[in-house]
Amino acid sequence: MLREFEKEDWQAVLAYQSNPLYLRYYPWTHRTEQDAREFVRRLMAQREEEPRTKCQLAITLAANGQLIGNAGIRRDAPDAQEADIGYELDPDYWGHGYATEVADALLTYGFQTLRLHRIWAQCVAENKGSTHVLEKVGMQQEGRLREQRWMKGRWWDVLLYAILENEWQVRSSS
Ligand SMILES: CC(C)(COP(=O)(O)OP(=O)(O)OC[C@H]1O[C@@H](n2cnc3c(N)ncnc32)[C@H](O)[C@@H]1OP(=O)(O)O)[C@@H](O)C(=O)NCCC(=O)NCCS
Repeated sequence: MLREFEKEDWQAVLAYQSNPLYLRYYPWTHRTEQDAREFVRRLMAQREEEPRTKCQLAITLAANGQLIGNAGIRRDAPDAQEADIGYELDPDYWGHGYATEVADALLTYGFQTLRLHRIWAQCVAENKGSTHVLEKVGMQQEGRLREQRWMKGRWWDVLLYAILENEWQVRSSS
């Protein structure tokens, strides 16, 4: 399930963001209570924007409401015809298809509700779980940004993926 963030969610966020598996493709080496509180505050602040351009929501388990990650869709401006998507999950819940389910839902919302023309995403090239998710929802690799990100003492290549509205329509109707 996807829902808005609440202030007290920082504890669940800190718990999973402290997992070394999660931290692997991020610049952070560890996370603190202050980091998690600020992270949640920033995502909650998106609600105040009028009209809203960014929507990063908590992912929870339908069975018990447990917070297991977040995902969102972001436009640069209210009239933008493209947006990017992003997601992250608690490593304890990887490999269940949740990220794919969420990415699919974000594409549907982006094309059907926001009437976007193009949706893109970026991820570290070595992050095979994430590239696999993007490919499973029909996004195509458009480029490789060589040594685009400096983190953890070295350069990392980043892959750019995107899907166009007409490509998504064809997939959705098949
Ligand atoms: C990326 C991430 C969200 C994927 O979440 P997930 O719930 O495991 O994703 P799914 O289960 O929907 O799909 C993952 C797919 O990648 C595959 N996969 C995972 N790790 C892989 C690897 N190292 N090599 C090849 N395939 C891999 C899985 O087998 C699965 O494919 P399948 O359904 O065909 O078996 C999760 O790993 C994560 O949160 N990582 C940390 C944060 C992050 O990197 N976010 C993305 C930033 S771009």
